[in-house]
Amino acid sequence: MARILTGVQATGVPHLGNILGAIVPGVQLSQNQDNEALFFIADLHSLTSKKDADFIRESSYAVAAAWLAFGFNTDKNIFYRQSDIPEVTEMTWYLNCFTPYPMLGNAHSFKDKSDRLSDVNAGLFTYPVLMACDILMYDADIVPVGKDQRQHLEMTRDIASAVNHNLNEELLKLPEAKIDNRVMTVPGTDGQKMSKSYGNTINIFQSDKALKKEVMGILTDSTPLEEPKDPETCVVYNIYKLLATEEQTKAMADQLRAGGYGYGHAKKDLLNLILDKYKDERERFNHFMENREILDKELEAGAEKARAIGLPILKKLRSKLGYRV
Ligand code: ADP
Ligand code: TRP
Repeated sequence: MARILTGVQATGVPHLGNILGAIVPGVQLSQNQDNEALFFIADLHSLTSKKDADFIRESSYAVAAAWLAFGFNTDKNIFYRQSDIPEVTEMTWYLNCFTPYPMLGNAHSFKDKSDRLSDVNAGLFTYPVLMACDILMYDADIVPVGKDQRQHLEMTRDIASAVNHNLNEELLKLPEAKIDNRVMTVPGTDGQKMSKSYGNTINIFQSDKALKKEVMGILTDSTPLEEPKDPETCVVYNIYKLLATEEQTKAMADQLRAGGYGYGHAKKDLLNLILDKYKDERERFNHFMENREILDKELEAGAEKARAIGLPILKKLRSKLGYRV
């Protein structure tokens, strides 16, 4: 049985890109009987870029509600909030002391973020060590991540090797990255990759009215209603085909090519498809968000299970390093 572990940052309500690119494949992976999945909300990592207690708390709930709404099974798997097991920060300190400073300076994500952000704090710099700890504290075998996280996984293995070598014991398990090449990149309302940072997201969990406004705001060209249109260059179609059946996709492509079918019609069809396809998920999400005590209970039970795996590993390390257990 392989232990699969991955984390998602708490950075707002998950959008359609997050859902199709991360949540749906994650839930599928967790359904495999040969795996045990540990999925967590990396809310401590969020503090490196966002100092807003309400935002972090609300985002954590929204991420939890989205995963549960899409069917993540918490009986079979473990689902928790990183900050509920604060000992991860203790272990991060130990790992920090085994991490060569230049390795962190060479991290692409640090270089990228420190160029872009005005708040370049030490947490941003040691971000990969906390991430290594997230993985090593739970003896993970496989870590599914996007391409941008590949280097962080290499660092995790390097840090684990340094600890093991220094302590002369195979104390920490070296994880394998499972790099997901993201065959599916969901376009945003402006046709670029959908991302919170571009302000082009579609939030399927909001009210019908607000969702309609987002869908109607999708960028289109000025081809008149009567004229034929090229589906491939139509953002509405490119989003639609990621959600629709083959028949529905073909029907929209044919209508666009035939003319007499405007972008407004295509947007209405997309809106109706989202409302129909995600009816249950939207209801479940809102139910969880209106009943936070259910989320608290789920997360607390998950933290309990995660602690049972993580603390013995931390204690072993603590003792090996000469500290009282
Ligand atoms: P954002 O770009 O909105 O900040 P994140 O970087 O927090 O999103 O991504 C969280 C997860 O969702 C990652 O696994 C990422 O690969 C996936 N994801 C984000 N945007 C998309 C997209 N447009 N298409 C497919 N997957 C996406
Ligand atoms: N850094 C990851 C991201 O931004 C999130 C993350 C934190 C993570 N800890 C992790 C992913 C541990 C996998 C394993 O996407």
